[in-house]
Amino acid sequence: MSDALLEIRPMTRQIGAEIFGVDLSQPLDQAMVAAIHDALMVHQVIFFRDQHFTHAEHKRLGRYFGELALHSGVAGLPDHPEIVAIHADANSTYIAGDNWHSDLSEYDEPPMGSILYMHTLPDSGGDTLFSSMYAAYDALSPAMRAFLDPLTAVHDSNHIYRELFPDVQKTYPCNTHPVVRTHPVTKRKCLFVSESKTTRINGLSKAESSAVLRFLADHVKDPNFQVRFRWQPHSVAFWDNRCTQHFAVWDYFPDTRSGTRVTIKGDRPY
Ligand code: SIN
Repeated sequence: MSDALLEIRPMTRQIGAEIFGVDLSQPLDQAMVAAIHDALMVHQVIFFRDQHFTHAEHKRLGRYFGELALHSGVAGLPDHPEIVAIHADANSTYIAGDNWHSDLSEYDEPPMGSILYMHTLPDSGGDTLFSSMYAAYDALSPAMRAFLDPLTAVHDSNHIYRELFPDVQKTYPCNTHPVVRTHPVTKRKCLFVSESKTTRINGLSKAESSAVLRFLADHVKDPNFQVRFRWQPHSVAFWDNRCTQHFAVWDYFPDTRSGTRVTIKGDRPY
């Protein structure tokens, strides 16, 4: 498939496409930004190969799609607070994102997307899995969709960062969002709960909430909704954080995997 500007190669029927024909380090005109955005709206996560950019160029790329967000749990680079390092090596005791999640869903306005640029990869392993929350929602029975549609749930990151950084005295964001959100651009419905961040469904008993969250956490892991990306040095992944979840596989210890991410602000889910 291709539009006038880009070659777009879908990777599965549900989610993911590789994009060719653009150098992301260069200034992009409106038509190119629109073409990339259109591809993202259709495929939910898009991948680019052989890209080389500086931190300033990474931020410029992100800003074509919105204002950049700061990470509440992880400090950005000293001269580029909007960029977080995604890095693991032989000294790492944890990595970012080896659980199913959408980035910063605990914010009152969770990000619209993230752009991850990886420059150093292990010889094997270190893939990232992405799951389509449109596909996950669409696969539910009408009765389950009707049950979930009006519900809201709490998204909290305090338990995660307290465990990772027990010495840091800080309160992290915690907000309530719809269990099923409507994508602001495509107007499609998608599931918006995750195993790592969603702690409670409002209006249900504790036992009911746990059971429903357990079911949904298992449901989003269905391989039918997923694409698995095999990184190469200088690959880029741009995901729509509103309608996807992702999981970074840490199967390469003690090898090094390293890159940088910018995150683009979003709006309040409805
Ligand atoms: C993340 O942003 O959650 C990390 C993704 C990755 O390292 O592949």
